[in-house]
Amino acid sequence: MNRYADKLGHVTVADRGRELARAVRYGNGLPRTMTPLKALIRRNRGAPILDIGGGFGDNFIILRKYLGETPYTVVDGAESCRVGRHLLGDRVRFRTDMPADGQYGLSILIGTLQYILDSKPFISSLSRLTDDTIFVSRSPLRKTGDDFYSIQEITPDFGSNSAGECMVRIRSVKNVVDDFAQAGFGLVENREVLSYKKQMSSLPEEYRDCSYFNMTFRKIALMFLSLIAIGDRYANELAMV
Ligand SMILES: C[S@@+](CC[C@H](N)C(=O)[O-])C[C@H]1O[C@@H](n2cnc3c(N)ncnc32)[C@H](O)[C@@H]1O
Repeated sequence: MNRYADKLGHVTVADRGRELARAVRYGNGLPRTMTPLKALIRRNRGAPILDIGGGFGDNFIILRKYLGETPYTVVDGAESCRVGRHLLGDRVRFRTDMPADGQYGLSILIGTLQYILDSKPFISSLSRLTDDTIFVSRSPLRKTGDDFYSIQEITPDFGSNSAGECMVRIRSVKNVVDDFAQAGFGLVENREVLSYKKQMSSLPEEYRDCSYFNMTFRKIALMFLSLIAIGDRYANELAMV
């Protein structure tokens, strides 16, 4: 299931420990990704969280102080799960496959969407498991045009040598939004946070216009209920005038 994780299979607990120490000390280099999550965690009010591609719990560790006892599940490759269990014990539930069922208030997908090649069925299963909000970040998305496939050279933070190559699917913003809409989730916030053009410089010009976005999707039924509630309040206020 996890080609990227397989490539990093030789990474040791010590390597991960060093990476973790750096993340805890300096953050994971992208506070722009984590900042919106604090508000989403507040809104989530302790409902279970599902973190797809959550590594060995790196997102969890950075967010830990906002999470309290919130149940937290990470889905990732076998090696990341092994290291995660070693580091975090029972606090986080690690699994190598998507849960078949469950009710997660908040699902997060950070730095992972590009590795999931069959992303439409994936978005549909993720949406079925999520009650309220899905947050997507740190995946290069194409600003115009259609999805395309490319090869990424993986260079881990803790070594200068390449760990190998991995096929990625660079999705277009529009296609991602359409897939979520078909799965019953509407885009409520979309912020372009970092241009990815430089990293795409070996591709033909027309494929380079990609960026990281912070995207928040909310279950459409809930969006309608909120609009109805706002409409009702407005009608009551009018009736009182
Ligand atoms: C770039 S890392 C991001 C790790 C972490 N979320 C972060 O932001 O630091 C991508 C992660 O996605 C995982 N991954 C790749 N394909 C996956 C899949 N099909 N299902 C679950 N996880 C996957 C990788 O093993 C890796 O841990």
